[in-house]
Amino acid sequence: MPVQIAKPTLTQVGAIKALLDFFALQNAVLPRSVLDICEKIQMFWVAVRNDVVVGCVGLQFYPDYFAEIQSLAVDSSCQGQGIGSSLVNKCIIDAKKYGAKRLFALTNIPRYFEQFEFKKIEKSSLPQKIWKETINFELRQNPEHSAIDLILE
Ligand SMILES: CC(C)(COP(=O)(O)OP(=O)(O)OC[C@H]1O[C@@H](n2cnc3c(N)ncnc32)[C@H](O)[C@@H]1OP(=O)(O)O)[C@@H](O)C(=O)NCCC(=O)NCCS
Repeated sequence: MPVQIAKPTLTQVGAIKALLDFFALQNAVLPRSVLDICEKIQMFWVAVRNDVVVGCVGLQFYPDYFAEIQSLAVDSSCQGQGIGSSLVNKCIIDAKKYGAKRLFALTNIPRYFEQFEFKKIEKSSLPQKIWKETINFELRQNPEHSAIDLILE
């Protein structure tokens, strides 16, 4: 069955939370509360098959033309079918559309992102503003994650 990449509705918040909770147990993504997902619903994309959410990703913007891929997850039973790639590609297109110049992620699987031309970078090369707002929190939860980025210009 085909998978559609779409903006989520509020009825899909529970499914996004369940996906993130599952992979947060493996320290792959951060867990999010229902409130957090509702507040940030506009930054998410979901992958939907047969009306079921089988994947999600979030795209967060920062000053100085930075954007971050967050909360990338594909249901275990649907992995290896290109759904993760569709979600990442959607973020790349969206980030460019909004005028971002650098798209980064903090990730446990930097090698996965090589297929999209992301390169590993020093965490310290990301701007202080972003450190204060997000990276400190993310790395406190998952200190082993690497930073990767893609230049969009
Ligand atoms: C990472 C994830 C989103 C990929 O989703 P997916 O739908 O399986 O990915 P795709 O089908 O688009 O891509 C599969 C390809 O990526 C490769 N890949 C998958 N996981 C990988 C990993 N951990 N490291 C390197 N390559 C990986 C596969 O080998 C496959 O390559 P192939 O097509 O040449 O065989 C999914 O495995 C997942 O949800 N993992 C748990 C959560 C997680 O780690 N999130 C990332 C946080 S940044």
